[in-house]
Amino acid sequence: MPGQPVNDAPHRLIDDVEFGSDVVVYSFTSLYGCRIGDGTRVGPFVEVQRGAEIGARCKIQSHSFICDGITIGDGVFVGHGVMFINDKRPAATAAGGALQTEADWELMRTIVEDGASIGSGAIVLGGVRIGAGALVGAGAVVSRDVAEGATVAGVPARALLR
Ligand SMILES: CC(C)(COP(=O)(O)OP(=O)(O)OC[C@H]1O[C@@H](n2cnc3c(N)ncnc32)[C@H](O)[C@@H]1OP(=O)(O)O)[C@@H](O)C(=O)NCCC(=O)NCCS
Repeated sequence: MPGQPVNDAPHRLIDDVEFGSDVVVYSFTSLYGCRIGDGTRVGPFVEVQRGAEIGARCKIQSHSFICDGITIGDGVFVGHGVMFINDKRPAATAAGGALQTEADWELMRTIVEDGASIGSGAIVLGGVRIGAGALVGAGAVVSRDVAEGATVAGVPARALLR
């Protein structure tokens, strides 16, 4: 696998990332310890954390946050400012008052299947599966699994009746 994006762009942090071929990464991104598949495009101000996996031919739009525990399939659209969540009960400190370490919280894993699209500003809570080809509306809060091919919207996200 090639070790770098195909384009140059200033002000991006790339550390220990496994890139496929023809990946495009714009400026002001922070990508570390993750995998990004062939032909995927990562917009500006995106952070992808250690442990996250993104498939081939995805579009990750600006200002989105993809954290540890998230697996994204092929051909997935992630809109602007989409936030993934992997900690149900976050806390700064552990019992005793010291800052939490990785041993103090439970990682929740989320899967976004091939061809799904997630609208801008959506929040995807931990531990859900967004089915293949599903569409999540802008601003939705996804708290349960989304069926394959379904369109969901709202807070909490529910299937849109057509
Ligand atoms: C969810 C979505 C696909 C629905 O599109 P649609 O099927 O054409 O639905 P409509 O526009 O006909 O709206 C149907 C109903 O859902 C509501 N609705 C539409 N989108 C909604 C959303 N994101 N959140 C909450 N309600 C929504 C509408 O108000 C309407 O309600 P009403 O019947 O009470 O008036 C679309 O609105 C959306 O959010 N797409 C994502 C766009 C996006 O984020 N693009 C990324 C970057 S540009």
